[in-house]
Amino acid sequence: MSFCVGTEAYGRHVGRYGPALSAAHAEAAGVAAGDRALDVGCGPGVLLVELAQRLGGDRVAGVDPSQPFVASARAAVPAADVRVAAAERLPLESDSFDVALSQLVVNFMADARAGVAEMRRVARRTVTSCVWDYAREMMMLRAFWDAALELDPGAPDEGKTMRYCTPEELRSLWTDAGLRDVEAEALVVEAEYEDFDDYWSPFPAGIAPSGAYCASLDEDQQAALREACCLRLGSPQGRFSLSARAWFVRGSVR
Ligand SMILES: C[S@@+](CC[C@H](N)C(=O)[O-])C[C@H]1O[C@@H](n2cnc3c(N)ncnc32)[C@H](O)[C@@H]1O
Repeated sequence: MSFCVGTEAYGRHVGRYGPALSAAHAEAAGVAAGDRALDVGCGPGVLLVELAQRLGGDRVAGVDPSQPFVASARAAVPAADVRVAAAERLPLESDSFDVALSQLVVNFMADARAGVAEMRRVARRTVTSCVWDYAREMMMLRAFWDAALELDPGAPDEGKTMRYCTPEELRSLWTDAGLRDVEAEALVVEAEYEDFDDYWSPFPAGIAPSGAYCASLDEDQQAALREACCLRLGSPQGRFSLSARAWFVRGSVR
């Protein structure tokens, strides 16, 4: 799958927003000293690092189906228990964590209902998630897909293809899993770019669905898409920053 191309390109793609989003996510999840926390779909470990800073590395665990990401997450938090596994079948005991979190993952799960049910099974107190607002306020991806649609009306815009990226859908997924006091809210973060090339370079590397689409184009099509993206971002000269909104959902286990 398109996340297996490497952690370096991921860090320059959506991973750039990871530290700020992780801090906002951990705060909104109510993670507190003494908790044990599980990061489901931990990727290279950005939320795991945030959780370890708050709780201690030996009080956090992570799972991800991607072997290269698990290797990076283990290197990032050596004391954490990080395993290769999917959300739908967590190799973990019931009620073994206070909080189970998943960041930018439920929309990629093969069976999100099963994944959330598993998160609820292993958590004693709270289950949370956040997913980019692909259709509107995740500006890095919105600029890319709006440019792609301009050139190819059949482009697989994640604003249309992704599930669970509205507060309503997330609320329903959480409520249907039997979680209580379900609440959804916006998390808004920012990231900086050195210049337009810094923005563009991870796309042709094939990372995530946007990169996979970009990498599938021939050289001329990629050049046209690059130009259209640059125009959409206002042809930036030098440094610029973009904001990104994610929808966050939280539910209580009992
Ligand atoms: C956009 S990345 C997010 C990674 C990380 N949580 C972060 O915030 O940077 C999506 C992650 O979901 C993982 N993933 C895909 N399907 C999954 C599943 N069924 N269960 C758990 N993780 C999954 C991918 O391997 C990838 O690491």
